Amino acid sequence: AKLNTLAKAKGKLYFGSATDNPELTNTAYVAILSDSTTFGQITPGNSMKWDATEPTQGQFSWTGADQIVNLATTNGQVLRGHNCVWHNQLPSWVSSGSFTSAQLTSIIQNHCSTLVGHYKGQIYSWDVVNEPFNDDGTWRTDVFYNTLGTDYIQIALNAARSADPAAKLYINDYNIEYPGAKSTAMQSLVKTLKAASVPLDGIGLQSHFIVGSVPSTSSLESNMNAFVALGVEVAITELDIRMTLPTTPTLLAQQKTDYTSVISACQAVDQCVGITIWDWTDKYSWVPSTFSGQGAALPWDENFQKKPAYDGIAIGF
Ligand code: XIL
Repeated sequence: AKLNTLAKAKGKLYFGSATDNPELTNTAYVAILSDSTTFGQITPGNSMKWDATEPTQGQFSWTGADQIVNLATTNGQVLRGHNCVWHNQLPSWVSSGSFTSAQLTSIIQNHCSTLVGHYKGQIYSWDVVNEPFNDDGTWRTDVFYNTLGTDYIQIALNAARSADPAAKLYINDYNIEYPGAKSTAMQSLVKTLKAASVPLDGIGLQSHFIVGSVPSTSSLESNMNAFVALGVEVAITELDIRMTLPTTPTLLAQQKTDYTSVISACQAVDQCVGITIWDWTDKYSWVPSTFSGQGAALPWDENFQKKPAYDGIAIGF
């Protein structure tokens, strides 16, 4: 069976992929992406980010995001929204602005409510806040934190809830997939928000991993359970498992095992609702341009041929 069919048969809501607008001119790519038995869910990799959706204050641009939402809707695929508030890919009017706390509050409220409201009723879950923490578990000192302290989190979540009450609201981050200072910090945040009745439904575990260094299934699983115990669901939101190039049969075999470990962990936790890979073909992976000398992180190669990792995913379900 195909991967989304397998995922659903095993109790998950979806198996899905990120995609991005430039790739949608490749008809062979779109044909595979559009197969909802393989991909039951889509995340726009870039086109819902702040620089794309509100490049100038108060002027919203939906072209790229609408294209992906329309494609997913046509294909019967669930959508994850990504994202409202993040330190990266901000337009300069936000990142270099000097705002009072009242001004930035209304800027966040307007951005999140307009973005989430534009897609009201069409999105399963939103990454309302992306990457709030440093790796040591301290708060990332971006324009939001520097101006508003931790209040920006609840400002964004409340705005998103009002704009689309049916959407699941997530905070998403990396290096929180396994126990450690950063996961502990995220768990503390979940507790604080829940205690204050701030709307929060899920934690997104990005899962940008490295072949041979993937946390064990038991470590991934116990970490997911720690979040679930606090009253949130979890999802694997940006899975890829990169290697130092060139690929070798040994590395590809290890990658297969590593994918199985991650899927198995989600499979073992009922409240791990789904898995999203951060695009599906090495041709369009973000990895080579971000991590020098690394790549081949996805289950299909650059020629859209399935790699051993594909079977590794199927085995995990
Ligand atoms: C990446 C995109 O895939 C790239 O195309 C872009 O140049 C940079 O951002 N964590 C996230 C994603 O939450 O938004 C990032 O996506 C990858 C890391």
